[in-house]
Amino acid sequence: MPQLCVIEGDGIGREVVPAAVEVLRATVPGLEVFPAQAGWECFQQRGVSVPAETLESVRACGAALFGAVSSPARKVEGYRSAILTLRQELDLYANLRPVRGLPGVSPRPEIDFVILRENTEGMYAGRERREGDTAIAERVITRAASRRVGLRALEIVRARQRKRLTIVHKANVLPVTDGLFRDTILETAHECGAERDGIVIDELLVDTAAFQIASQPERFDVLVTTNLFGDILSDEAAYWCGGMGLAPSLNWGDGLALAEPVHGSAPDIAGKGIANPLAAILSAALLARHAWGLSEPAARIETAVRTALAQGLPATTVEITRAILDRLSHG
Ligand SMILES: NC(=O)c1ccc[n+]([C@@H]2O[C@H](COP(=O)([O-])OP(=O)(O)OC[C@H]3O[C@@H](n4cnc5c(N)ncnc54)[C@H](O)[C@@H]3O)[C@@H](O)[C@H]2O)c1
Repeated sequence: MPQLCVIEGDGIGREVVPAAVEVLRATVPGLEVFPAQAGWECFQQRGVSVPAETLESVRACGAALFGAVSSPARKVEGYRSAILTLRQELDLYANLRPVRGLPGVSPRPEIDFVILRENTEGMYAGRERREGDTAIAERVITRAASRRVGLRALEIVRARQRKRLTIVHKANVLPVTDGLFRDTILETAHECGAERDGIVIDELLVDTAAFQIASQPERFDVLVTTNLFGDILSDEAAYWCGGMGLAPSLNWGDGLALAEPVHGSAPDIAGKGIANPLAAILSAALLARHAWGLSEPAARIETAVRTALAQGLPATTVEITRAILDRLSHG
C-alpha cells in the first residue's frame, strides 16, 4: 500500500495540504498517511526546523507531501531552512516543475513544458560566510550532481512527444562552474545515445532563457538548469500555469520523492480560508505518477482540476477542494 509522510509546515501549508491529502485518499485506495513536523513554527517550539523523526518518516514512506514553510529574511542563529534541509538530507537531487497551461486561468492554456533543476548544490545551497566587511557565497557545481540531473532530464525528455532538451546556464561569465554543468550534461546525453534516439539538445544563456520563457514559451520542451537559476525561472514560468496557486513541483531522488506546491507560506492570506489548493493537489498527482507509478489516478486528478477550472472556480479552499472531489466522483 502507498505510504505518505505529510508535512503541512507553516501558513497556508496547513490549509492546502489537508485538501491535497483528501484528494489523494479519494484516488489512491489504501493510502496510509503519517503526519510529521517541519518549518519555522517547529523551530520555535523545538529548536530544529526538521526533526530527525521527520527525515526518518519520509525515508520509511518513500514519499512525502510538503506544504510550505516560512523563513526569516535575516539570519537567525541555529535556524536552517527546512526545505533546503529536506532536499539535502534526503538527497532529492532533481526538482521537477511542470509548466502546463490550465483552462480559464492561464494566459495560454496550450503551453506545456518542464523545468528540471539541480536541487542540492550551486548558489541555492546557501554556503555563505562573512570575512569582515566581505560577504562570500560559494557556488559549488560537481560532475556527479550535474550527471544525475542530466540523466533524470533525459528520462523525462524520452517520455514526452517533442524530445527537445535545453540546457540553461551562464557559461559565458561562469565558464568553470556552468561550463562543467553544461559539458557534463552534453557528455551524458552523448553517452546515452540521445542524438541517435532523435533527441534535440540545445543550450541557452539564462538571461536569454528568461526572456524567451516570457516571449516564446511554446519553444520549450524540457529545460535543465542549476539550482538558483531554476528557482527563479520556474517562478517566472508559473505565470503560464495561471499563477503561484497553480504551480506544482516534485523534489525527486532515487526511490524517494517529496511533492510541494511552488508557492510559499503566504502569510498575507494564511488563516483566511482562501488559499488555492490546486498547486498542492497537482503536486500530489506528480507524487502518484512518479513515486508510486500510479499514472491513471494521477491523470484523473489532473483531469478533475482542468474540468473544475473550465467550469469556473469557487472562492474558498474548502469549496475548491469539494469541486475537485465532485469531479473525481463523477468521472
Ligand atoms: N518552498 C517553500 O516552503 C517556500 C517557497 C517560497 C517562499 N517561502 C516562504 O514563504 C514566505 C512568504 O513568501 P512570499 O510572500 O515571497 O511568497 P508566497 O508564495 O508565500 O506568496 C506570494 C504571493 O502569492 C500569493 N499566493 C501564494 N500561494 C497562494 C495560493 N495557494 N493561493 C492564493 N494565493 C497564493 C500570496 O498570497 C502572496 O501574495 C516567506 O517566509 C518565504 O521564505 C517558502
